[in-house]
Amino acid sequence: MIPFDPLPLREEFPAFVMNHRGNRTVFMDAPGGTQVPVRVIEAIASYYRERNANTGGEFAASKKTDETIGTARRLVADLLGAGDPETIVFGQNMTSLTFHLARSLGEEIQPGDEIVVTELDHDANIAPWKDLEERGAVIRFARLREQDGTLDEGHFESLLNRRTKLAAFTCASNALGSITDAARLTKSAHRAGAMVFLDAVQYVPHVMVDVSKLDCDFLVCSAYKFFGPHQGMLYGKREHLERLRPHKVAPAKNQVPYRWETGTQSHEAMAGTSAAIEYLADIGKNYGIASSAAETGASETRMHLIAAMDAIGRYEQYLSKYFLQRIKELPQIHLYGLTDENTAGMRTPTFAFTIEGISPRSIAAHLAERGIYCWSGNYYALRLMQRLGLEESGGAVRIGMTHLNTIEEIDYLMETLAHI
Ligand SMILES: Cc1ncc(COP(=O)(O)O)c(C=O)c1O
Repeated sequence: MIPFDPLPLREEFPAFVMNHRGNRTVFMDAPGGTQVPVRVIEAIASYYRERNANTGGEFAASKKTDETIGTARRLVADLLGAGDPETIVFGQNMTSLTFHLARSLGEEIQPGDEIVVTELDHDANIAPWKDLEERGAVIRFARLREQDGTLDEGHFESLLNRRTKLAAFTCASNALGSITDAARLTKSAHRAGAMVFLDAVQYVPHVMVDVSKLDCDFLVCSAYKFFGPHQGMLYGKREHLERLRPHKVAPAKNQVPYRWETGTQSHEAMAGTSAAIEYLADIGKNYGIASSAAETGASETRMHLIAAMDAIGRYEQYLSKYFLQRIKELPQIHLYGLTDENTAGMRTPTFAFTIEGISPRSIAAHLAERGIYCWSGNYYALRLMQRLGLEESGGAVRIGMTHLNTIEEIDYLMETLAHI
């Protein structure tokens, strides 16, 4: 049984409604950013209309801005299972937050300390840690298994030792869609005495996160990948957010989480992020089976989110399975990563492929002319593309879907690819 029909949900997205008026646009560019429901647009517009101010003032708009920030923090905490909203830090995007934290974390690094990163990761979870080589840190790369695009977890674990101060890795690849066993790897890293920094940018739109169960030290994500505005969020264990020294201006508050939020934040984006989380929670209200998703002490919103992500996950696995079945009909396509349809549960609906003799960019342009939006290149998963030997030849074409895609769209993509 299909867990739900995305068509009624698409009605809330102006980008999709425009399609009904003639242009056939198929959004398969989700790992690069998702479209937003009208409530996100309205929340941002109404922030500017009714509450636009800086924080901490005595007048109404400033007080309402403080409320907007508080609500957003609470909702992000619900989304990530953080419990304490003060462990959520807002920032411009995941990349800026990671550089910001790495700079502070670097002050605890001694020459010879080791940091484990992975070949599966986006460069935003490599470059900030590589910068710490200046302080004498030794960066160790956990290997990608070329044959199926998953992380070689045995190799990752073999790199952990008493010198390991941090393990930074992704929960889901932005190029191949492969999911890592973040809970297991976090445990292994903790056993070695290392802190764990998780990149959940490509995980949050597809799978329910629970930082308290994962027990990670830090986790980052970006609202524009889950139907919200361009904004990043960092979860950090309170003890770390209190102990580490942020680079901040002297008059700014020194309490957690404010001490980590440099300068004036995008309050309008916070309003939009709240609306995106409410959009997801509403899916849980309407489609979810909350009873199977009970979590002791969880807020009502979190219960709805758990139910939503359960329905979304099942539907996306159904899309992945269908995609993997259909792509086999096209022998000219070389698909990287997990290719077996029985692995649909080990991945997000993100796929990378090449066609011999045609550049990935030309394939993406051909698809774009026919209304299919997708990316080609390395999508900043530079190390991964180098490992697959694709960097020199323009990377790969990436098809990335969400719960808003349909079987008919996959059929249209396959027809279009068949005639390339
Ligand atoms: C897995 C992953 N990590 C990090 C990033 C960087 O996120 P941001 O654009 O919020 O800096 C991206 C962006 O595509 C990503 O896919």
